[in-house]
Amino acid sequence: MKIAFKAGDPAKHACDLLLVPVFGAALKGRALDLDAALGGLAGRCLTQGDLGTSAGATLLLPIAGGLKASRVLLFQCGEDGALEGLREGLAAAFSAACKSPAKSLACLLSDGTAAGFDAAVLTEETVLAAHYARYRFHRYLKTAKPVAAASLALLQSGRAGAAQQKALTRAEALAKGIALTRTLGDEPGNVCHPTYLAKEAQRIAKAHSTVKVEVLSEAEMKRLGMGAFLAVSAGSAQPGKLIVLRYSGGARNAAPHVLVGKGITFDTGGISLKPGPGMDEMKYDMCGAASVLGTLSAVAEAQLPVNVIGVIAAAENMPSGVATRPGDIVKTMSGQTVEILNTDAEGRLVLCDALTYAERFKPASVVDIATLTGAAVIALGSPATALYANNDDLASALLEAGEGTGDRAWRMPLWEAYQKQLKSNFADMANIGGREAGSVTAACFLARFTKAYPWAHLDIAGSAWRTGADKGATGRPVRLLMRYLEAQCV
Ligand code: BES
Ligand code: MN
Ligand code: ZN
Repeated sequence: MKIAFKAGDPAKHACDLLLVPVFGAALKGRALDLDAALGGLAGRCLTQGDLGTSAGATLLLPIAGGLKASRVLLFQCGEDGALEGLREGLAAAFSAACKSPAKSLACLLSDGTAAGFDAAVLTEETVLAAHYARYRFHRYLKTAKPVAAASLALLQSGRAGAAQQKALTRAEALAKGIALTRTLGDEPGNVCHPTYLAKEAQRIAKAHSTVKVEVLSEAEMKRLGMGAFLAVSAGSAQPGKLIVLRYSGGARNAAPHVLVGKGITFDTGGISLKPGPGMDEMKYDMCGAASVLGTLSAVAEAQLPVNVIGVIAAAENMPSGVATRPGDIVKTMSGQTVEILNTDAEGRLVLCDALTYAERFKPASVVDIATLTGAAVIALGSPATALYANNDDLASALLEAGEGTGDRAWRMPLWEAYQKQLKSNFADMANIGGREAGSVTAACFLARFTKAYPWAHLDIAGSAWRTGADKGATGRPVRLLMRYLEAQCV
């Protein structure tokens, strides 16, 4: 979708569909001028209660006499200045717009500063919502109905300032990264295997001279002593890959921020096989990896002045005659041994070696992103990503990035008291901690491998995809990560 600012009278702007935000019970600012051209139709609809005041409500005026626009869609954003309501309104408006036959869209929002929003914030929210709603995963449909919407004009009275222009380019870069993350998540496991993820990383590097990629094979991982990682990919015909992307946007000697992604391209559970119903959704078990690729793409596209390294632990967890057995004991790259009591707790096994590998970068921070536990879904559901950290400043920075973007996280405890659940009588630790606090004990396992640097863990099992009949990747937590990295720029 092509998006551009457009100055001038919105009543005179020709388009197929004009989106008009409403904040509360009555029209304000330029929406009032527009309504005058409409002969007061929008205002009358509001008085009649046709739109209502709850954020996310929409009302289509199929005929818009007096305007150059063919139709008008009113969308409710709730109270003035409430970012949450604005996001709900925009999501509903663009969702409706992308289902409609309208090809050219316009939105009156970008100078909706009357409602108390900063112009750059309005720009970012609008652009992200438009791209988000336009996303489809239709590449395997014989007859897909393409989205008609092809262009969006951001209508405002004056020319866009520098801050707004920057917000537009940043949001376009971010939207592209989010779409990449969603596409990779939605790709099925027979297509998106570890080698496919490695090729995607190489494609990003080809597109940006600031990104370099290195892919480690199983033989190289064996030489590094990554016994935990290799135990997971042992049962699969698809070779595991450790994918390393380096984005250099900051000073040559500035310590990098490292993002480590869980990239289990399909999680059957291994010999500790998962039950059948819903197992298809375990193609999403690489959403951590997908968010690392999406974030790296966004950061490179936006040319952020910071150094970022992505490390992706890509493997497929399959049962077979050469798969790892429950009870097997392996040695990790850190030298610590693990008794694998359940082969379905595989994420922590690939991650622990990737986290040890990250030490070599002398990182300023390490954040891992993983669809790690069903227990995180039980604890927090989909609204919040579970956050764990061994450093309070890092935890605060990530929480703030989540609050600011609406891609929210909630901090969970990493107390020593939970560590005893990982006790094994035959190895330095077990890979499972029992029924209680499953998301916490998974994080506690990772904490044993991250003592060398400030580290945080994002368990995105509940937030990375929508489950059930309407299943699909959400692109989270790319927005949170991008905001976090923007805040690290000096
Ligand atoms: N990928 C799953 C976690 C998961 C399950 C995410 C369902 C989203 C929805 C992970 O590898 C896993 O299987 N975890 C086990 C751990 C258990 C064996 C300790 C789980 O959560 O059941
Ligand atoms: Mn598993
Ligand atoms: Zn898994």
